Amino acid sequence: MSAPLSGRRVLVSAGPTYEDIDPVRFLGNRSSGKMGFAIAAAARARGAEVVLVAGPVHLDTPDGVRRIDVRSAAQMHAAVVGALPADVYIGAAAVADFTPRQVSAHKIKKTAGSETLVLELVRTTDVLAEVAAHRQRPALVVGFAAETHDVERYARGKLASKRLDLIAANLVGAAEGGFERDDNTLHVYWDSGECRLGPASKHEVAAALVDLVARRLPA
Ligand code: PMT
Repeated sequence: MSAPLSGRRVLVSAGPTYEDIDPVRFLGNRSSGKMGFAIAAAARARGAEVVLVAGPVHLDTPDGVRRIDVRSAAQMHAAVVGALPADVYIGAAAVADFTPRQVSAHKIKKTAGSETLVLELVRTTDVLAEVAAHRQRPALVVGFAAETHDVERYARGKLASKRLDLIAANLVGAAEGGFERDDNTLHVYWDSGECRLGPASKHEVAAALVDLVARRLPA
């Protein structure tokens, strides 16, 4: 078997983050981790040393992959930055953009006469943008974009604003997919080009993405 990523260290994030509101409630999202875990397995199969930072998911760790479990966006940020340096970072996790300003120490109770609850949310650190700007920046930084419409416009916006080398965009939403399912279609964009991977199983799409990454990685 050829091992195009032999001697390379690949850092992958996968899954959702959970942002606690109180001891029994959190803000989460529909990411299952399947896409990111498939990428980690594909990179390992191509010879890379792989570190997988995983949000709360119910998936087995791919053989030969070092896994670091996290819960919140803040923990994902610390684990990803703490795992640098790497040759490649692939950010497939659905990291929360906002987190409650305060976590209530006690279960929030319904109050008589009040029909609404206002939660104040604050922005989380953008892990991907921070990795791309880091002094130990990987040679290739690959982002994901989960979009419900105008996929290319939003994905190219993220490619430029977060200073990425590649971005893999997928349509998400009740009807389209991306989240949870076993199959996916990725629209991959870079400065001077683009390609489509899939529709196919997440394992096949992940293999094609990792092959593209291996081809674009500087020698
Ligand atoms: O897990 P599955 O069920 O298999 O579903 C796969 C997937 C749909 C989650 C995956 O293919 C995907 O699209 N992942 C990215 C989801 C996402 O958060 O997209 P975004 O467009 O909101 O974020 C853009 C990029 O910024 C992503 O690489 C994300 O990891 C990163 N980000 C976002 C916010 C933040 N605070 N830190 C980040 O690093």
